[in-house]
Amino acid sequence: MIQEKGKILDMKLQKVLSVLVILLLFGVESMHAVAQDGNAEAGAQKNAMCQGCHGIPGFRTAYPTVYTVPKLGGQNALYLANALRAYKSGGRTHPGMRAIASALSDQDIADLAAYYSENKKIIVSTEKGTE
Ligand code: HEC
Repeated sequence: MIQEKGKILDMKLQKVLSVLVILLLFGVESMHAVAQDGNAEAGAQKNAMCQGCHGIPGFRTAYPTVYTVPKLGGQNALYLANALRAYKSGGRTHPGMRAIASALSDQDIADLAAYYSENKKIIVSTEKGTE
């Protein structure tokens, strides 16, 4: 009986491991894709539709659940680009960001990632937020 359980656990572990390997392969793949150079100045022209949410300190969206909007300024460019690609591809499932990222080209993503990574103090409001 105990041995049976052990076998089932082994099988589960194998499944988990193979999923992890697949995720890893995809992760490495998307890192390669990010080699594209972003232009921060171009990104500054494209961020108007992001500021409505990401520029407000402590801003929370109400739909579909209460979400705190992450701060983007000063974040690593590779991380930002990978996050946007994940929303675009469906790897990340937040509906609002999915809709937004699906409208972005690879160049838009690279430019926006460059812009946000180079601008640590994007939030200009003096209002106190959680960030
Ligand atoms: C309607 C509000 C809204 C708009 C507009 C918006 N975002 Fe977001 N964004 C969010 C929310 C909420 C999250 C967190 C979602 C989650 O939990 O996955 C998020 C997450 C992100 C993340 C992941 C951050 C992290 O730390 O993982 C990035 C990158 C991002 N947004 C970039 C952008 C860019 C670039 C734009 C403009 C093209 C934009 N967003 C426009 C609300 C918005």
